[in-house]
Amino acid sequence: MNILEQHNLIDDNTLAVDCVCNQYAAINSLSDLEALPKNIKITEMLVLGSGSNFLFTQDLPRFVAHIKPRKYITQVDNLVVAWAGTVWHDLVMWSVNRGLGGIENLALIPGLVGAAPFQNIGAYGVEIKDVLVWVEVYNWQTGLYHRLSSKECMFSYRHSVFKYHEQPWIISRVALDLRNNSDINISYQPLSDYFEETGKEVTYANVAAAVTQIRQSKLPDPEQLPNAGSFFKNPVLNDQQIRRIQRRHKDLPLFPTTSDQPEAYKTSAAWLLEQCGFKGFREGDAGFYDKHALVLVNHGRASGKELLKLANQAKRMVKNKFGVVLEEEVRVM
Ligand code: EPU
Repeated sequence: MNILEQHNLIDDNTLAVDCVCNQYAAINSLSDLEALPKNIKITEMLVLGSGSNFLFTQDLPRFVAHIKPRKYITQVDNLVVAWAGTVWHDLVMWSVNRGLGGIENLALIPGLVGAAPFQNIGAYGVEIKDVLVWVEVYNWQTGLYHRLSSKECMFSYRHSVFKYHEQPWIISRVALDLRNNSDINISYQPLSDYFEETGKEVTYANVAAAVTQIRQSKLPDPEQLPNAGSFFKNPVLNDQQIRRIQRRHKDLPLFPTTSDQPEAYKTSAAWLLEQCGFKGFREGDAGFYDKHALVLVNHGRASGKELLKLANQAKRMVKNKFGVVLEEEVRVM
């Protein structure tokens, strides 16, 4: 295994910020995983995929195990198993091209398969937890593999056991239950509008194509404009907060939450940020995207600290104006 010292991660994070780590190893296969030094402590390790959900604000005194993109997918009946390094969108297209449904709403979510269960990726009314059967992890300290069932993953909105309890684990493979007769969910307004306007047949492949088109129309491509997708989670509001905000803002968007809090409502973090004037706002090279206020962007050479400063400023404004505390979806390090 080739271990690099003092490696700069600027090309390895989609916000394109400078960040030097102590040690770095590229992981292309299970045998690379197995060659990792066993004595790395949990607090010293950082497992990095496509780097689309990180904001690095300082150099990292860590060993970075960088899972490199490599497509490897197998299928036995309804069980589709993918290597962690498979690009998530490639898995979505692989499935819909074979007439298998379940993840078509999650088309074009950036990142690799191994990162998907970590934060229970979701979009347009679907989360990976809805189809996930098991996650295989590699324990780099013992050299053993272990499988967690969907229940053991303890999924909730953008959350999982992998965030609750840090363990010496690297996700190695993910198994999904994808079927040719699974239900199609086009309940989200932008999706139902798309099918109404185009008159297209509602198939898995067409849903993936629709989601791809909708996302491309409002989310920036990190290759063109560095970003890390939604920067904050959508906050869950209680009745009291809703009533208080609605006194001044009748148009407060409200969406039912997923099953973990059936009686609560989520609002749109993008809407809150837009009301505070952050849509398209820019401070030096750090900014919020002009077509979607939830996306923090790097217009050039913004440092991680500058991006964090702007994000914190936005958080403070939202807290002052609405009494709502935004929580980062992106991992700030
Ligand atoms: N909105 C604004 N201003 C904006 C953008 C949106 O007011 O600048 C309002 C819109 O009116 C809309 C509402 O916010 O009604 C929701 O916007 P959108 O449909 O774009 O979804 P979102 O809540 O911003 C979430 C996920 C996305 C996922 C979409 C679609 C989170 C934090 N983000 O975004 O996931 O693709 O729903 O389901 O839950 C990601 O996780 O990186 C991500 C992009």
